[in-house]
Amino acid sequence: MENYPKVLIIHGPNLNMLGKREPEIYGSTTLDEINANLKSLGQKLGLVAETFQSNYEGAIIERIQEAMGVCSGVIINPAAYTHTSIAIRDALLMLDVPLVEIHLSNIYKREPFRHKSMIADIATAQISGFGVQGYLLAMEGMAGMMRDA
Ligand code: DQA
Repeated sequence: MENYPKVLIIHGPNLNMLGKREPEIYGSTTLDEINANLKSLGQKLGLVAETFQSNYEGAIIERIQEAMGVCSGVIINPAAYTHTSIAIRDALLMLDVPLVEIHLSNIYKREPFRHKSMIADIATAQISGFGVQGYLLAMEGMAGMMRDA
């Protein structure tokens, strides 16, 4: 398992509050449950899921920098930073690996300020609106892209 390719899954601000945060939009599953599901799906797919959450832009950027040359793929829900962060975009641009942008809600169905993503045009793929299921779809898609590469 140590030899399995690593996929870094990054959760942005306020996602540590999943389960309690606006459950009508984001559902009742907690971040710990999502991470546990990602780790066990990763094992089945032959991938190691490394998970990281921060409410701080700089911490997310530093985690992306650490992934350089180490991780074979990145799945990121930048949360509110999706719509604002050129710095996270720039950090992701340094990586030369498949990048999946994911959102629990369908950001295009919500307020206009959520329609703009700073990373959509540099992502390999985007998943938006499947709720927690989206993370598992992202992981399966990542495994498929790696198999085909
Ligand atoms: C989100 C959508 C963002 O607009 C919002 O700021 C979030 C979560 C989502 O997963 O649907 O925090 O990324």
